[in-house]
Amino acid sequence: MTLVYAVTTLVALVCTTTALKTDSILWTTPLNNTNEIFSMAQWVATSPDGSSIIALSGANFVSLNATTGAELWAAQDNEYLSSLEVLAVSSTAVLAAVGTGLISFHLSNGSLIATASVPQGPNPFNTGISNIVVHGDLFVVYGGQNIAVMGSDLVMRYNVSVMDSYSLGVSSGFVYYTSGAAHLTIVDLITFEERRVDDVLYVSSAAANGNILVVQNSRPLVATIALSTGTFVWKNTDVVLNNVTTFVLIASTDVPLVVADNAVYAFDAVTGGLVFQYQTPFPTVSNPVVASGRLVYIGNTAQGLARGRLFVAGMDLSTGKSLGQVMTPTLLRPSLVVSGGHAMMINGQGYSLIDTLTMTAVSHNLNLQGQVLLPW
Ligand SMILES: *[C@@H]1O[C@H](CO)[C@@H](O)[C@H](O)[C@H]1NC(C)=O
Ligand SMILES: *[C@@H]1O[C@H](CO)[C@@H](O)[C@H](O)[C@H]1NC(C)=O
Ligand SMILES: *[C@@H]1O[C@H](CO)[C@@H](O)[C@H](O)[C@H]1NC(C)=O
Ligand SMILES: *[C@@H]1O[C@H](CO)[C@@H](O)[C@H](O)[C@H]1NC(C)=O
Ligand SMILES: *[C@@H]1O[C@H](CO)[C@@H](O)[C@H](O)[C@H]1NC(C)=O
Repeated sequence: MTLVYAVTTLVALVCTTTALKTDSILWTTPLNNTNEIFSMAQWVATSPDGSSIIALSGANFVSLNATTGAELWAAQDNEYLSSLEVLAVSSTAVLAAVGTGLISFHLSNGSLIATASVPQGPNPFNTGISNIVVHGDLFVVYGGQNIAVMGSDLVMRYNVSVMDSYSLGVSSGFVYYTSGAAHLTIVDLITFEERRVDDVLYVSSAAANGNILVVQNSRPLVATIALSTGTFVWKNTDVVLNNVTTFVLIASTDVPLVVADNAVYAFDAVTGGLVFQYQTPFPTVSNPVVASGRLVYIGNTAQGLARGRLFVAGMDLSTGKSLGQVMTPTLLRPSLVVSGGHAMMINGQGYSLIDTLTMTAVSHNLNLQGQVLLPW
């Protein structure tokens, strides 16, 4: 997550007025300089209960009280932390990954639990852990060539070398990923038994009712699979998506969604029939998320990564109609955090806060000092 996220989350949650205003900053705790500031590393994380914020500060991890910003503990390990790449926090432990190396600390006091490493893959240009997902007490770590599952003791419960992993999800007691020639592997996170399904290219990052949404390599293209059995629940034979460059698959108990390029396709969760198709008014759509019964996303008036004007936009999931859009001033490519009826659009100068029920701007702070890092 980002530095500005750490400082302003509480402001978002207590904000109730509707007039646009500039939020005041509740607290600021300076972090010692670190080279990571210019990398894409995720070097700030919030504990699951929201009470503390873990950040990299120089060669230390620090834990900060989320209410006051006061330092709770500092943990030092120069060898690992000088090039920290990824950071995640479970209810008991902090896990950091550097290349193929892993290190864990007690969340309560910062004392060291364990160090370990995942096997080095065969490709020297594509090594190491780039993502960590927390699932209960387990950490699922993965990168270009490795997927591994472990507890805070860092004893591997599951590990596999993969070439060409396309997409991965962790949900409902399973980790599942596609790799190779469009194979899906589903791993039970209790027994660590594997199940293999052919002809799956992309998977939704989460399940709904135990089912994931998938895009196949062949037609029919869109389908759902039950994680517990690895069997197809339905396949949609009607929808034809041509020349799609990006997919985001959102599983849902009501209307699973495929966001493909700049259009949205909603399916009946039981039959798989197309409920509606929505062409957004933007050439490029990113960061789609379902919240408060609507789809909230970032719309860009330019193609692809080009810099157009950026909007936070909403679409009604029961009607497939637009709910409006708010233009947001932006310095860098932004990210969107949605919580409690608000969408926070974080960018290179601060953030804008949008009420997702009315699709109106509520407040902003576009004057935050320093570099605002983005969790992309
Ligand atoms: C920054 O470094 C100073 C001097 O080493 C130290 O006293 C301070 O606690 C550090 N602050 C943080 C947040 O790491
Ligand atoms: C943070 O500070 C508040 C106010 O002093 C205190 O009530 C709370 O217990 C602290 N939280 C943690 C996690 O230390
Ligand atoms: C840190 O906390 C863990 C559990 O929360 C405990 O087992 C350990 O003894 C503590 N270490 C220190 C040095 O206090
Ligand atoms: C990874 O799994 C293999 C077996 O598939 C095992 O031989 C190896 O020791 C494991 N690596 C680690 C670091 O646990
Ligand atoms: C898809 O791309 C091909 C080749 O670039 C092009 O001929 C075709 O018209 C495109 N189809 C659609 C529906 O855009």
